[in-house]
Parts: sequence; C-alpha cells; structure tokens
Amino acid sequence: MKVTVVGAGAVGASCAEYIAIKDFASEVVVLDIKEGYAEGKAMDLMQTASLNGFDTKITGTTNDYSKTAGSDIAVITSGIPRKPGMTREELIGINAGIVKTVATSLIEHSPNVILIVVSNPMDTMTYLVHKSTGLPKNKIIGMGGALDSARFKYRLAEALEAPISDIDGMVIGGHSDTGMVPLASHATRNSIKVTEFISQDRLQQVVEDTKIGGATLTKLLGTSAWYAPGAAVSSLVQAIACDQKKMFPCSTLLEGEYGLNDICIGVPVILGKNGIEKVVDIPLSEAEKTKMKESAAGVTKTNGLLDV
Ligand code: 2OP
Repeated sequence: MKVTVVGAGAVGASCAEYIAIKDFASEVVVLDIKEGYAEGKAMDLMQTASLNGFDTKITGTTNDYSKTAGSDIAVITSGIPRKPGMTREELIGINAGIVKTVATSLIEHSPNVILIVVSNPMDTMTYLVHKSTGLPKNKIIGMGGALDSARFKYRLAEALEAPISDIDGMVIGGHSDTGMVPLASHATRNSIKVTEFISQDRLQQVVEDTKIGGATLTKLLGTSAWYAPGAAVSSLVQAIACDQKKMFPCSTLLEGEYGLNDICIGVPVILGKNGIEKVVDIPLSEAEKTKMKESAAGVTKTNGLLDV
C-alpha cells in the first residue's frame, strides 16, 4: 500500500506521522515544493520509527511527482492555511490553482489513485478536483466532516463531563464556519440521546462551538490547526487501505442524494478499498434538512468563484 501526502506542512506531516504509526502502509511519500522540506520532514519522521515502533517507509521529494508513481491513495493538503479572522472561502484565489495542478500531476503518475482533498475551501476544492480530473466520483473524497465530528464529540464530552469514548456524534454539510450541520438529534452517550443529560440550550452551545472549532484554534494558534486534521485524514486513509467499510461524513459529489445535485458536500458515506462505496441516506429532522439546504447554497456560491 503506497500513500502520497502532498504538502509537508503541519497537516501533511501530521497525517504522514499518524499513517506511519498505524503501520498499515508499506510506503508514504511526502511531496512539497519547498526545496528539501519534504525530505527533511520524512527523515525526521523516519528517525522516530524505532521509538514509535513502525516499519512504514517514509520518503520525501521536492516536487518530483515521479516519486509518487503507483500511489494507491494520495492526500492533498497543499495550499495556504487561513490566518485569524479569515474564512476558509477566502483561500480560494490561491488554493484553487495549487490544488488543480497537484491533482492532475498525481493522476499523471498514478491513474488509479484515490484522492483525499484537505485543502480549503475543502468542499469547493473537492468539486474542482472532479471538474479537473474526471476521476470516478468514488475516488474523490473531501475530508472535513471527520474532523468536524471529532470536534463535536470533544465538545459533547466536555458538556456531559463524559469520556470521549462514551460519545458518538456526526457533523454533515459544508466544512465552513457557518455551513456545518452537527446532528444534535442523533448524538448519543452509550446509545442514549445526549438530550437526556444536557439541556437544549447547552446542546445548542455545543453545536455553535463545534461550528467555529477551526476558527477558535486559528485564533489561538495564529494559523490553522494540524493535529486533529492530520488524524482525521489518516483515519480515512486507513479505512480505504484496510477496506474497513467504516462510515464517515465526507465531502462527495452528490447526484440527487439528499435532494442535492452537482455539489460536493459532507454526507455519511461508507469507505472501503474502492473509496466511497456508498452514500448513506439517514433520517434528518426538518430543521436539519433546512440547515443542509442552506449549507449547500453556501458551497454552491463558493463553487461559483471557480473558473471551471
Ligand atoms: C480546520 O478546520 C484546517 O479546515 C481545517 O482546522
């Protein structure tokens, strides 16, 4: 199993590290345009192998896509991260050109690759990859909901004063500060609805804190987060690499599902060796359906900024 991670920045390097530590891939290639940067990150990570107990071989390359040839899965993290006060959508002007070049370069050397898009604005970048590559839709996956759901569970555990391992919850919709749809009506603690433990007002606060989870960290860190994004995308890679048939909310091209067409947005999917193997239709409350429609309108508006 060969995995490529494009972008040796904080998110890409964290993703490569988590993949290596999980030790399900034979090889991870990290690629960056900055001279020597990916090579340095790869060597530093390889020097943790004896300490962290993995045999995955991590290598780095400065913009040589021939080194990525034959990749089974490729993760696109390249582009600029947001600064405090910025929205993810404001990154489109710079990141769209980068993501288009990266995606086409990857496919040139790995025609059967499954692509996972992380770069922001993620839903629109995922849509751009569809438009610029023509890959089958099961092979193009946007990572946002897995991260947002992790943040939702974190906030729920905080509110319930419970261990996160007790908590389950999912966030669908656009990966944006205003467009996320945390499924509060489905959230549980050990199969019991969380509304049995906290008030609706406290649950609404959890929802609002979840939606700005990325912006909250960007304000604290001065740049976008990287540990949780890296961990979230490594979980998607593992589900595909190990054919786990796990369900995650991922951005995928919808063709009528959830009443939406010609848009990439976060919905529950089953991930396995073929990438997105199924879009899962789940019951939504009327309020959640309305929020999903509003979220889709926001993503469609951002898509309109693309030159495709
Ligand atoms: C985040 O929410 C980078 O979009 C990513 O942290």
